[in-house]
Amino acid sequence: MKWGLWGAAFNTQQYLEAITRSIELGANCFDHADIYGDYTTEAEFGTALAHQPALRDKMILISKCGIRMISENRPEHRVKSYNTSREHIITSAERSLKNLQTDRLDYLLIHRPDPLMHADEIAEAIELLKKQGKVLQFGVSNFSVTQTALIQSRTPVTINQVQASIVHLHPFTDGTFDQCQQFGIIPMAWSPVGGGNIFSAYDERSLRILEIANALSPKYALGPDQILLSWLITHPSGIRPVIGTAKMERISAAVIAAETKLDREDWFLLWSASTGVPVP
Ligand SMILES: NC(=O)c1ccc[n+]([C@@H]2O[C@H](COP(=O)([O-])OP(=O)(O)OC[C@H]3O[C@@H](n4cnc5c(N)ncnc54)[C@H](OP(=O)(O)O)[C@@H]3O)[C@@H](O)[C@H]2O)c1
Repeated sequence: MKWGLWGAAFNTQQYLEAITRSIELGANCFDHADIYGDYTTEAEFGTALAHQPALRDKMILISKCGIRMISENRPEHRVKSYNTSREHIITSAERSLKNLQTDRLDYLLIHRPDPLMHADEIAEAIELLKKQGKVLQFGVSNFSVTQTALIQSRTPVTINQVQASIVHLHPFTDGTFDQCQQFGIIPMAWSPVGGGNIFSAYDERSLRILEIANALSPKYALGPDQILLSWLITHPSGIRPVIGTAKMERISAAVIAAETKLDREDWFLLWSASTGVPVP
Protein backbone atom coordinates (compact mmCIF):
# COMPACT_ATOMS: atom_id res chain seq x y z
CA MET A 1 0.00 0.00 0.00
CA LYS A 2 2.90 2.32 0.78
CA TRP A 3 5.10 1.53 -2.23
CA GLY A 4 2.81 2.91 -4.90
CA LEU A 5 0.80 6.09 -5.32
CA TRP A 6 -0.36 6.06 -1.69
CA GLY A 7 3.23 6.24 -0.46
CA ALA A 8 6.69 6.17 -1.98
CA ALA A 9 5.46 6.18 -5.62
CA PHE A 10 8.26 3.84 -6.70
CA ASN A 11 9.22 3.51 -10.35
CA THR A 12 9.73 0.05 -11.84
CA GLN A 13 13.42 -0.09 -10.96
CA GLN A 14 12.72 0.97 -7.38
CA TYR A 15 10.01 -1.71 -7.04
CA LEU A 16 12.42 -4.30 -8.32
CA GLU A 17 15.17 -3.25 -5.92
CA ALA A 18 12.75 -3.09 -2.99
CA ILE A 19 11.25 -6.51 -3.77
CA THR A 20 14.68 -8.12 -4.18
CA ARG A 21 16.14 -6.52 -1.07
CA SER A 22 13.07 -7.32 1.08
CA ILE A 23 13.27 -10.97 0.11
CA GLU A 24 17.00 -11.02 0.88
CA LEU A 25 16.25 -9.53 4.28
CA GLY A 26 13.66 -12.22 5.00
CA ALA A 27 10.48 -10.19 4.45
CA ASN A 28 9.00 -12.13 1.57
CA CYS A 29 5.26 -11.52 2.00
CA PHE A 30 3.74 -8.62 0.06
CA ASP A 31 0.37 -7.27 1.11
CA HIS A 32 -1.69 -6.00 -1.81
CA ALA A 33 -5.29 -5.03 -2.46
CA ASP A 34 -7.04 -4.23 -5.71
CA ILE A 35 -7.69 -0.67 -4.51
CA TYR A 36 -4.15 0.33 -3.42
CA GLY A 37 -2.82 3.38 -5.22
CA ASP A 38 -6.29 4.01 -6.60
CA TYR A 39 -6.23 0.65 -8.36
CA THR A 40 -2.69 1.14 -9.72
CA THR A 41 -0.20 -0.46 -7.30
CA GLU A 42 -0.76 -4.10 -8.21
CA ALA A 43 -0.06 -3.38 -11.89
CA GLU A 44 3.12 -1.45 -11.04
CA PHE A 45 4.34 -4.28 -8.82
CA GLY A 46 3.44 -6.76 -11.57
CA THR A 47 5.41 -4.80 -14.15
CA ALA A 48 8.47 -5.01 -11.91
CA LEU A 49 7.90 -8.72 -11.28
CA ALA A 50 7.69 -9.38 -15.03
CA HIS A 51 11.30 -8.17 -15.31
CA GLN A 52 12.40 -10.98 -12.99
CA PRO A 53 9.74 -13.69 -12.95
CA ALA A 54 11.96 -16.02 -10.89
CA LEU A 55 11.21 -13.79 -7.89
CA ARG A 56 7.62 -15.02 -7.85
CA ASP A 57 8.45 -18.38 -6.31
CA LYS A 58 10.40 -16.65 -3.55
CA MET A 59 7.46 -14.56 -2.37
CA ILE A 60 4.03 -14.84 -0.81
CA LEU A 61 1.44 -12.63 -2.48
CA ILE A 62 -1.67 -11.47 -0.67
CA SER A 63 -4.43 -9.54 -2.34
CA LYS A 64 -7.81 -8.32 -1.15
CA CYS A 65 -11.11 -7.55 -2.78
CA GLY A 66 -14.56 -6.33 -1.89
CA ILE A 67 -14.16 -2.56 -1.56
CA ARG A 68 -15.48 -0.48 -4.45
CA MET A 69 -13.82 2.91 -4.23
CA ILE A 70 -14.75 6.07 -6.02
CA SER A 71 -11.89 6.53 -8.44
CA GLU A 72 -11.06 7.92 -11.85
CA ASN A 73 -9.91 4.41 -12.60
CA ARG A 74 -13.35 2.96 -11.85
CA PRO A 75 -15.78 5.51 -13.34
CA GLU A 76 -18.59 2.97 -13.08
CA HIS A 77 -18.59 3.22 -9.26
CA ARG A 78 -21.35 5.63 -8.17
CA VAL A 79 -20.94 5.25 -4.41
CA LYS A 80 -18.21 3.90 -2.18
CA SER A 81 -19.49 0.49 -1.25
CA TYR A 82 -18.66 -3.15 -0.63
CA ASN A 83 -19.31 -6.04 -2.96
CA THR A 84 -18.73 -9.62 -1.94
CA SER A 85 -20.89 -11.17 -4.62
CA ARG A 86 -19.59 -14.26 -6.41
CA GLU A 87 -19.13 -12.27 -9.59
CA HIS A 88 -17.21 -9.41 -7.94
CA ILE A 89 -14.85 -11.71 -6.02
CA ILE A 90 -13.99 -13.70 -9.14
CA THR A 91 -13.62 -10.66 -11.39
CA SER A 92 -11.48 -8.82 -8.85
CA ALA A 93 -9.22 -11.82 -8.17
CA GLU A 94 -8.71 -12.39 -11.89
CA ARG A 95 -7.88 -8.73 -12.37
CA SER A 96 -5.35 -8.86 -9.52
CA LEU A 97 -3.71 -11.90 -11.12
CA LYS A 98 -3.47 -10.07 -14.42
CA ASN A 99 -2.13 -6.88 -12.83
CA LEU A 100 0.39 -8.69 -10.64
CA GLN A 101 1.43 -10.77 -13.67
CA THR A 102 1.17 -14.01 -11.75
CA ASP A 103 -0.84 -17.19 -12.12
CA ARG A 104 -1.80 -17.46 -8.45
CA LEU A 105 -2.45 -15.52 -5.28
CA ASP A 106 -1.15 -17.21 -2.17
CA TYR A 107 -3.95 -15.59 -0.19
CA LEU A 108 -7.07 -13.73 -1.25
CA LEU A 109 -8.79 -11.79 1.54
CA ILE A 110 -12.19 -10.14 1.70
CA HIS A 111 -11.04 -6.62 2.57
CA ARG A 112 -13.93 -5.50 4.79
CA PRO A 113 -17.03 -7.19 6.15
CA ASP A 114 -19.94 -6.44 3.83
CA PRO A 115 -23.34 -6.06 5.50
CA LEU A 116 -24.85 -7.73 2.43
CA MET A 117 -22.42 -10.64 2.33
CA HIS A 118 -23.83 -14.08 1.74
CA ALA A 119 -21.58 -16.77 3.17
CA ASP A 120 -22.60 -19.43 0.62
CA GLU A 121 -21.89 -17.09 -2.28
CA ILE A 122 -18.46 -16.14 -0.93
CA ALA A 123 -17.61 -19.80 -0.35
CA GLU A 124 -18.74 -20.71 -3.87
CA ALA A 125 -16.48 -18.06 -5.43
CA ILE A 126 -13.51 -19.03 -3.29
CA GLU A 127 -13.92 -22.75 -3.89
CA LEU A 128 -14.02 -22.13 -7.64
CA LEU A 129 -10.89 -19.90 -7.57
CA LYS A 130 -9.10 -22.52 -5.47
CA LYS A 131 -10.15 -25.34 -7.78
CA GLN A 132 -8.75 -23.37 -10.72
CA GLY A 133 -5.47 -22.87 -8.82
CA LYS A 134 -5.89 -19.10 -8.96
CA VAL A 135 -6.12 -18.71 -5.19
CA LEU A 136 -4.29 -21.03 -2.83
CA GLN A 137 -5.72 -19.91 0.51
CA PHE A 138 -8.57 -17.68 1.60
CA GLY A 139 -8.88 -15.15 4.41
CA VAL A 140 -10.70 -12.11 5.70
CA SER A 141 -9.75 -8.65 6.93
CA ASN A 142 -11.36 -6.45 9.56
CA PHE A 143 -13.88 -9.20 10.32
CA SER A 144 -15.43 -9.53 13.77
CA VAL A 145 -15.49 -12.88 15.55
CA THR A 146 -19.04 -13.65 14.45
CA GLN A 147 -18.43 -12.56 10.85
CA THR A 148 -15.35 -14.79 10.68
CA ALA A 149 -17.29 -17.69 12.23
CA LEU A 150 -20.03 -17.25 9.64
CA ILE A 151 -17.61 -17.52 6.71
CA GLN A 152 -15.60 -20.24 8.46
CA SER A 153 -18.81 -22.31 8.66
CA ARG A 154 -18.78 -22.55 4.82
CA THR A 155 -15.13 -22.40 3.74
CA PRO A 156 -11.78 -22.44 5.60
CA VAL A 157 -10.53 -19.03 6.75
CA THR A 158 -6.74 -18.93 7.15
CA ILE A 159 -6.07 -15.22 7.91
CA ASN A 160 -7.84 -12.36 9.63
CA GLN A 161 -5.97 -9.11 8.95
CA VAL A 162 -7.05 -6.51 11.50
CA GLN A 163 -5.87 -3.20 12.89
CA ALA A 164 -3.77 -4.03 15.93
CA SER A 165 -0.96 -2.31 17.79
CA ILE A 166 -0.05 -0.90 21.16
CA VAL A 167 -2.48 1.94 20.38
CA HIS A 168 -5.21 -0.33 19.00
CA LEU A 169 -5.90 -3.04 21.53
CA HIS A 170 -9.43 -4.17 20.61
CA PRO A 171 -8.48 -7.48 18.92
CA PHE A 172 -6.79 -8.55 22.16
CA THR A 173 -10.01 -8.19 24.12
CA ASP A 174 -12.90 -8.59 21.66
CA GLY A 175 -12.20 -12.26 20.94
CA THR A 176 -10.46 -11.77 17.58
CA PHE A 177 -7.09 -13.17 18.64
CA ASP A 178 -8.76 -15.86 20.81
CA GLN A 179 -10.60 -17.07 17.74
CA CYS A 180 -7.36 -17.07 15.73
CA GLN A 181 -5.69 -19.17 18.39
CA GLN A 182 -8.69 -21.50 18.65
CA PHE A 183 -8.91 -22.25 14.92
CA GLY A 184 -5.30 -21.71 13.82
CA ILE A 185 -6.24 -18.60 11.82
CA ILE A 186 -3.18 -16.38 11.15
CA PRO A 187 -3.75 -12.96 12.74
CA MET A 188 -2.14 -10.19 10.68
CA ALA A 189 -1.80 -6.75 12.29
CA TRP A 190 -2.12 -3.75 10.00
CA SER A 191 -0.73 -0.42 11.24
CA PRO A 192 1.42 -2.38 13.69
CA VAL A 193 3.19 0.77 14.89
CA GLY A 194 -0.04 2.74 14.77
CA GLY A 195 0.77 4.26 11.39
CA GLY A 196 3.88 5.86 12.90
CA ASN A 197 1.99 8.69 14.64
CA ILE A 198 3.11 7.53 18.03
CA PHE A 199 6.68 8.64 17.26
CA SER A 200 5.71 12.23 16.55
CA ALA A 201 2.67 12.69 18.81
CA TYR A 202 2.92 14.45 22.11
CA ASP A 203 -0.28 13.18 23.70
CA GLU A 204 0.04 11.59 27.13
CA ARG A 205 -0.64 8.06 25.93
CA SER A 206 2.01 8.13 23.20
CA LEU A 207 4.54 9.63 25.60
CA ARG A 208 3.82 6.92 28.21
CA ILE A 209 4.26 4.17 25.61
CA LEU A 210 7.44 5.68 24.18
CA GLU A 211 8.93 6.12 27.64
CA ILE A 212 8.52 2.37 28.32
CA ALA A 213 9.65 1.35 24.81
CA ASN A 214 12.77 3.50 25.22
CA ALA A 215 13.45 2.09 28.66
CA LEU A 216 13.22 -1.48 27.34
CA SER A 217 15.45 -0.76 24.34
CA PRO A 218 18.86 -1.57 25.91
CA LYS A 219 17.60 -4.81 27.52
CA TYR A 220 16.54 -6.26 24.15
CA ALA A 221 19.07 -4.37 22.01
CA LEU A 222 16.15 -3.13 19.90
CA GLY A 223 14.94 0.35 19.00
CA PRO A 224 11.62 1.56 20.44
CA ASP A 225 9.80 0.90 17.15
CA GLN A 226 11.19 -2.65 17.14
CA ILE A 227 10.04 -3.12 20.74
CA LEU A 228 6.48 -2.31 19.62
CA LEU A 229 6.69 -4.98 16.89
CA SER A 230 8.16 -7.52 19.32
CA TRP A 231 5.28 -6.70 21.65
CA LEU A 232 2.87 -7.91 18.95
CA ILE A 233 5.01 -10.93 18.08
CA THR A 234 5.00 -12.03 21.73
CA HIS A 235 1.26 -12.77 21.66
CA PRO A 236 0.56 -16.52 21.58
CA SER A 237 -1.83 -16.28 18.62
CA GLY A 238 1.19 -15.72 16.33
CA ILE A 239 0.50 -12.17 15.14
CA ARG A 240 2.21 -11.20 11.86
CA PRO A 241 2.74 -7.42 11.65
CA VAL A 242 2.08 -5.86 8.22
CA ILE A 243 4.54 -2.99 8.17
CA GLY A 244 3.92 0.03 5.97
CA THR A 245 7.29 1.43 5.03
CA ALA A 246 9.32 1.81 1.87
CA LYS A 247 12.59 2.11 3.79
CA MET A 248 14.80 -0.94 3.67
CA GLU A 249 16.43 -0.15 7.02
CA ARG A 250 13.00 -0.29 8.68
CA ILE A 251 12.23 -3.61 6.97
CA SER A 252 15.56 -4.99 8.16
CA ALA A 253 14.83 -3.77 11.69
CA ALA A 254 11.37 -5.35 11.60
CA VAL A 255 12.77 -8.74 10.59
CA ILE A 256 15.11 -8.60 13.60
CA ALA A 257 12.26 -7.53 15.88
CA ALA A 258 10.22 -10.51 14.69
CA GLU A 259 12.79 -12.83 16.26
CA THR A 260 12.37 -11.40 19.76
CA LYS A 261 9.67 -12.03 22.33
CA LEU A 262 9.29 -9.81 25.37
CA ASP A 263 9.19 -11.01 28.95
CA ARG A 264 5.69 -11.15 30.39
CA GLU A 265 6.24 -8.25 32.78
CA ASP A 266 7.70 -6.09 30.02
CA TRP A 267 4.70 -6.93 27.83
CA PHE A 268 2.37 -5.78 30.59
CA LEU A 269 4.39 -2.63 31.21
CA LEU A 270 3.59 -1.61 27.64
CA TRP A 271 -0.03 -2.74 27.90
CA SER A 272 -0.53 -0.60 31.02
CA ALA A 273 1.29 2.33 29.44
CA SER A 274 -1.27 2.13 26.66
CA THR A 275 -4.38 1.74 28.82
CA GLY A 276 -3.10 4.16 31.47
CA VAL A 277 -3.99 1.78 34.32
CA PRO A 278 -2.60 -1.44 35.78
CA VAL A 279 -4.54 -4.57 34.82
CA PRO A 280 -7.34 -5.28 37.34
N1 LIG B 1 -6.54 -4.64 5.70
C1 LIG B 1 -6.73 -3.37 5.86
O1 LIG B 1 -7.87 -2.88 5.96
C2 LIG B 1 -5.55 -2.45 5.89
C3 LIG B 1 -5.71 -1.09 6.24
C4 LIG B 1 -4.57 -0.28 6.28
C5 LIG B 1 -3.34 -0.80 5.98
N2 LIG B 1 -3.22 -2.13 5.63
C6 LIG B 1 -1.90 -2.72 5.32
O2 LIG B 1 -1.06 -2.50 6.43
C7 LIG B 1 0.15 -1.91 5.98
C8 LIG B 1 0.75 -1.09 7.08
O3 LIG B 1 -0.07 -0.06 7.48
P1 LIG B 1 0.56 1.26 8.07
O4 LIG B 1 1.39 1.90 7.05
O5 LIG B 1 -0.51 2.06 8.71
O6 LIG B 1 1.53 0.61 9.18
P2 LIG B 1 2.63 1.07 10.17
O7 LIG B 1 3.83 0.22 9.89
O8 LIG B 1 2.05 1.04 11.56
O9 LIG B 1 2.94 2.58 9.84
C9 LIG B 1 3.88 2.94 8.86
C10 LIG B 1 4.28 4.35 9.10
O10 LIG B 1 4.99 4.37 10.34
C11 LIG B 1 6.18 5.10 10.14
N3 LIG B 1 7.22 4.61 11.05
C12 LIG B 1 7.62 3.35 11.28
N4 LIG B 1 8.62 3.31 12.18
C13 LIG B 1 8.86 4.61 12.50
C14 LIG B 1 9.79 5.23 13.36
N5 LIG B 1 10.67 4.54 14.08
N6 LIG B 1 9.77 6.58 13.46
C15 LIG B 1 8.90 7.31 12.75
N7 LIG B 1 7.99 6.77 11.89
C16 LIG B 1 7.97 5.43 11.78
C17 LIG B 1 6.56 4.84 8.71
O11 LIG B 1 7.39 5.88 8.28
P3 LIG B 1 8.39 5.69 7.04
O12 LIG B 1 7.53 5.79 5.83
O13 LIG B 1 9.34 6.82 7.22
O14 LIG B 1 9.02 4.36 7.18
C18 LIG B 1 5.20 4.86 8.02
O15 LIG B 1 4.80 6.18 7.72
C19 LIG B 1 -0.23 -1.16 4.72
O16 LIG B 1 0.89 -0.95 3.88
C20 LIG B 1 -1.24 -2.12 4.10
O17 LIG B 1 -0.54 -3.14 3.39
C21 LIG B 1 -4.29 -2.94 5.58
